[in-house]
Amino acid sequence: MAKQHRILTGQVAAITGAARGIGRATAQAFLREGMKVAIGDLDLATAQQTAKELGHGTVAFELDVTQRESVKAFLDGAEAQLGPIDVLVNNAGIMQVGHTIWEEDDATTQRMIDINVNGVMHGVKEIVPRFLARGRGHVVNVASTAGKGGFPGGGTYCGTKHYVVGLTEALRAELRGTGVEVSCVMPVVVNTELASGLTETRGVKTVQPDDVAGEIVSALQDLRFDVFVPRSVAGITKVMNLLPRNGREGLSRALKADQVLMQIDEGKRAAYELRASKSDPSLEAGDPTRQLTP
Ligand code: NAI
Repeated sequence: MAKQHRILTGQVAAITGAARGIGRATAQAFLREGMKVAIGDLDLATAQQTAKELGHGTVAFELDVTQRESVKAFLDGAEAQLGPIDVLVNNAGIMQVGHTIWEEDDATTQRMIDINVNGVMHGVKEIVPRFLARGRGHVVNVASTAGKGGFPGGGTYCGTKHYVVGLTEALRAELRGTGVEVSCVMPVVVNTELASGLTETRGVKTVQPDDVAGEIVSALQDLRFDVFVPRSVAGITKVMNLLPRNGREGLSRALKADQVLMQIDEGKRAAYELRASKSDPSLEAGDPTRQLTP
């Protein structure tokens, strides 16, 4: 039987962390499909500006994914303005890298856990009961290829993304047969502020936010769970997993994948690291050496 291709026109989507980057590109791609979009972000001013620029009735809300009540308020607000949510994209995330795990200050570690782990968990806990009550809906969790491996300089970030992959795998099994769908998005390095100043690998080229957005649209249309961006990473991951550990690690070093999150350009990352260090309002901004003047 031919695979179902779903029409997305008229569906309501809520996207966390969509003031900029991958979230913003995803909002734009959804609007092109005729969907209605609510964007939530810690940075309300930029979210409002983005909503204005995207148009088509896009609504913006202040959101702090580290607080479950804030996630609930975002979903409630989106539903009040646009109607029941059909798609939630748990996208908000930060990446602070360039230190070994033992050198990373505790606030930085905690901040990544609060946003990348708790943020996704809050989104899932708040949206799934709403979806189950209607017997439909699609949860899209944005993880990373960092959720499939371990890269020096990004121990905490990789750990948080492994959580997202694991949670999403379990959620798929829990929701089997309920009519609620799940997707796990795993991009390589994407050209956003989050990735500024990283080292390029030899094998896999940086992709654009629009590439990720296009794959998310296609995952909704064709009900795909594993969403690697680019798609070729699915094959590379399979081959890597067939190799013995020594071979896999040797190949990773040959491709310079072990340097991506460690050999960073501090100057180019300064503005992003400063923003990221302020992304968890419940915590002090953290290690002052990371707060370089842009
Ligand atoms: P970005 O920094 O361009 O955008 C992230 C947005 O999340 C920002 O607008 C920020 O204000 C918002 N945000 C941060 N903390 C928040 C909080 N507590 N509550 C609500 N919103 C908050 O980053 P980008 O690159 O668009 O990343 C989006 C997602 O994609 C993240 O989960 C990231 O880990 C993931 N990803 C990114 C890759 C990359 O190379 N850029 C590669 C793989 C995954």
